Amino acid sequence: MVCMKVLIFVISVQLWIYLSQGTAKFGNLKCDVLQADLISLEECRIKAINRSYNVVNVKYILKKQILEFQLNFKLLKRERGGWHPFLYDINVNMCEFFKRPYKYVVFNAIYQYGQKFTSLNHSCPYMPNMEVALMNWSLTENEVFQKFPVELGVYAAHTTWYTNKKKFLQMNGTLILE
Ligand SMILES: *[C@@H]1O[C@H](CO)[C@@H](O)[C@H](O)[C@H]1NC(C)=O
Ligand SMILES: *[C@@H]1O[C@H](CO)[C@@H](O)[C@H](O)[C@H]1NC(C)=O
Ligand SMILES: *[C@@H]1O[C@H](CO)[C@@H](O)[C@H](O)[C@H]1NC(C)=O
Ligand SMILES: *[C@@H]1O[C@H](CO)[C@@H](O)[C@H](O)[C@H]1NC(C)=O
Repeated sequence: MVCMKVLIFVISVQLWIYLSQGTAKFGNLKCDVLQADLISLEECRIKAINRSYNVVNVKYILKKQILEFQLNFKLLKRERGGWHPFLYDINVNMCEFFKRPYKYVVFNAIYQYGQKFTSLNHSCPYMPNMEVALMNWSLTENEVFQKFPVELGVYAAHTTWYTNKKKFLQMNGTLILE
C-alpha cells in the first residue's frame, strides 16, 4: 500500500516536472485593420526573449470614438495538416463584458491571461487618440494547463472585431505548446 502511494507520488512529481518543463510559445500573429478611418495599427509583433520564450506586442490608436463593439473569438487546433475548430467559438459584447464579466465565464477565463498587459480593460466609450495595446504579453504552459488541460500541439486564436455590425479588425495568432 505504502509502496503504491510512493509510486503514485513519484509518478505525479515526474509528470509535473515533465509538464512544467514544456513551453508555450507564440508562433505567428497577424493584425489586419479593416476600417482605416477608425483605428491605426502601430505595432503587431512577436518579440523573442530567448529560445523558449517570446512576448506579444500589439498597439493601435483610435481615430474615432467607439461606443459599442463585439468580438468573435474562436480557437482552432492544427491536426492532420489542417486547422480544425476547437472547443470555443464565442461572441462577446465587449462593453457589456466589462460591466458583467461573470456572464461570460469562458471568455473571462481567457481574458484574465491578458488583463494585466492591456489597456483594453474598461467599458465604453473608447475615446479618439486612445492607445489600445497588449504589451509584453506572455503565457507559460503551466498557466495554460491550469485552466485548460489541453494536449500539446499547435493552436490558433482568431478574433474578429465588429462595431455597428461591421468588421473593423481581424487579429489571428498561434500558440505552440510543446
Ligand atoms: C527565457 O526567459 C525567461 C524570462 O526572462 C526566463 O524565465 C527563462 O528562464 C529563460 N529561458 C532560458 C532557456 O534562458
Ligand atoms: C487599464 O489600463 C490602463 C493602461 O494600462 C491603466 O492605467 C489602468 O489602471 C487600467 N485599469 C484597470 C481597471 O485595470
Ligand atoms: C516591455 O518590456 C521591455 C523590455 O523588457 C521594457 O523595456 C518595456 O518598458 C516594457 N513595456 C511595457 C509597456 O511594459
Ligand atoms: C483569420 O481568421 C479569420 C476567421 O477565422 C479567417 O477568415 C481569416 O482567413 C484568418 N486570416 C489569417 C491570415 O489567418
